[in-house]
Amino acid sequence: MLTQTHARAKRLADLPPVNSDSLLALIALCDADPRPEKIDVGVGVFRDAVGNTPILKVMKEAEQRLLVTQVTKAYLGSAGDKRFAELLRPILLGPHADDDRIAGLQTPGGCGALRLAFELLAAANPNARVLVGTPTWPNHPPIIRSVRLERVDYSYYERGQGIIRFDAMIDALNSAEPGDVALLHGCCHNPTGADLSEDQWREVVRVVVERGLTPLIDIAYQGFGRGLDEDAFGVRLMLDACDEVIIAQSCDKNFSVYRDRVGSLWVKTGSKSATETAMAHVYQRAREMWSMPPDHGAAAVHIILEDAELSARWLVELAAMRDRINSVRQRIASADSRLSFIGRQFGMFSMLPLSKEQVLKLRETHAIYMADSGRFNVVGLGDDQIDRFTAAVIGALDA
Ligand SMILES: Cc1ncc(COP(=O)(O)O)c(C=O)c1O
Repeated sequence: MLTQTHARAKRLADLPPVNSDSLLALIALCDADPRPEKIDVGVGVFRDAVGNTPILKVMKEAEQRLLVTQVTKAYLGSAGDKRFAELLRPILLGPHADDDRIAGLQTPGGCGALRLAFELLAAANPNARVLVGTPTWPNHPPIIRSVRLERVDYSYYERGQGIIRFDAMIDALNSAEPGDVALLHGCCHNPTGADLSEDQWREVVRVVVERGLTPLIDIAYQGFGRGLDEDAFGVRLMLDACDEVIIAQSCDKNFSVYRDRVGSLWVKTGSKSATETAMAHVYQRAREMWSMPPDHGAAAVHIILEDAELSARWLVELAAMRDRINSVRQRIASADSRLSFIGRQFGMFSMLPLSKEQVLKLRETHAIYMADSGRFNVVGLGDDQIDRFTAAVIGALDA
């Protein structure tokens, strides 16, 4: 819709208004609410038991070391910090870390990695269609639109029951053409929290191979679900089976450096030389879009991963974030059988089976702020807010 009206604009003053991101509007509404008991579960970042999004202790230490040891801020080039990508390799790729058909580069967050991934896919095959399970992260469709690839949506999630519509997913993948792209969430599905089981991953991989699809796996929350290796199960299985795989990765959540924009893009093809050619396209596109990624966050992650003691401390802090997510999930799930699905899901987000009217009523009556879709951030809740939130949601379900 925007692109059509946009085409008619001749001058800046002719530009049509843009529908702003509804989540940003929700933040503004919540900020303006004077009720002290308000609960913000629309927010998209990790929060601790008292509602803060702290800088990890290990990150503070790495930043201090960076301040002391960094001797230049000269350009690094489109690949960013190459050592950062090398250090990430085993964490993301596991047993595939030594495969020289896989190359990666630093990007401005997972979002930059996704944009670059789609740029590459569109350059390789402008006729490729992108299969997207809905609901999905709201920024996926606009990024796909920006590279002018056609999007084919299928229904991923059965909201009433809190389960994946796996048959619909497999049907959609089966009906795709060779060369089409399967966009998949690596773990901690945003917005539903409903992750593929290991058996379901096996089936998805089988269909992707059989149909000759190109998998693009978006993994923005590795370590927030079951553990670093467990959360990379799908990524690694896909690498086992496919010659061509693209992975968009983010460190913004698992290192808690959201605004520093730390991510990476990974490309696998059937040969080292084909990967080198693909990466040359990637570097060129990166150069056109942002020249090179911002250094600071990745440089600090680099310091952590280079140092065994800091790495061990990062794993402890990551486990603490994961444990909080999963313990809040269990508390909500145990309150009512209609919420039990929340305990079987992963990551920060789940969707409540509430209508938009019910969501608005929770906002008006209980000062609970969540997306109209019923998506909420389980760790948006401070420990002292969980019972009140759960009681209000149960009340809405009873009504
Ligand atoms: C599914 C998904 N992919 C990618 C991203 C982008 O992450 P980043 O903040 O690193 O750009 C997010 C962020 O919310 C996300 O939820």
